[in-house]
Amino acid sequence: METHLSGKVALVTGASRGIGREIASKLGQLGATVVVNYLRSRAQAEEVCQGIEASGGQAMAIQADITQVAELEQLFSLTLAEFGQLDILVNNAGMLISKEIEEVTEEEYDALFALNVKSVFFACKLAAQHLAPGGRLINISTTVTRVMLPGYGLYAASKGAVDQITRVLSRELGAKNITVNAISPGPTDTELFREGKSSEQIARMAAMSAFNRIGTPSDIAGVVALLTCEEAGWITGQNIFVNGGLAG
Ligand SMILES: NC(=O)c1ccc[n+]([C@@H]2O[C@H](COP(=O)([O-])OP(=O)(O)OC[C@H]3O[C@@H](n4cnc5c(N)ncnc54)[C@H](OP(=O)(O)O)[C@@H]3O)[C@@H](O)[C@H]2O)c1
Repeated sequence: METHLSGKVALVTGASRGIGREIASKLGQLGATVVVNYLRSRAQAEEVCQGIEASGGQAMAIQADITQVAELEQLFSLTLAEFGQLDILVNNAGMLISKEIEEVTEEEYDALFALNVKSVFFACKLAAQHLAPGGRLINISTTVTRVMLPGYGLYAASKGAVDQITRVLSRELGAKNITVNAISPGPTDTELFREGKSSEQIARMAAMSAFNRIGTPSDIAGVVALLTCEEAGWITGQNIFVNGGLAG
């Protein structure tokens, strides 16, 4: 089936599980050839590829620890060698450490910033070098940057950096007609979100949205898909809050 992403190549980081998995599957359903990056979950990454292939698409899983710039570079060069172009990059992989600032260790700070900021920054650098004209770059941020939640200082700081990279890069890539945007999910039902939370806490968060539920990965993937449409070509440098009205 011919759809709007036929002939396009997309790379999604951290696409073996959670939100990234759903984004990769959605882009595949829309006709893109998808590179499914993963770190540890090989079987799950292969499953994502099989799902895309079952719906008539093309996909390839590539293992890379994207906190290492050399591995990121290899991820891009394998993608380009295999498929000849890159049209869409979704910087999705991220981690959450939730503890009050006075308890955060240097090791935790370094590990979280390595994934949430360093990998995004250098993937943006590689995208600036290799994304095809007319391409789309989407960074996954968080609604936590707009709510002063105790325990989220480290995480919010890292995503604040992502938001600023997004804003500046949108102006640098405009000449190539590439749009650069952030999507900021609210609480979304994944392992990252559920870890360490009681069902009461989750219900309280659900009650903060207009729809009395937390988000699903497909709520987020749908908005990534919107940004890949030709009609979204005038949207750049923006941070789109996808959180059921929790905050904006
Ligand atoms: N869930 C939420 O409520 C929520 C809300 C706002 C924003 N977000 C953001 O949404 C994004 C996805 O979150 P999620 O909830 O889907 O997370 P998740 O379920 O924990 O999945 C994380 C993904 O990142 C991959 N990953 C981790 N370290 C990596 C590395 N060094 N190199 C390559 N891949 C790596 C994992 O791969 P392996 O399993 O293969 O190791 C996995 O596929 C993150 O940026 C997060 O901050 C999430």
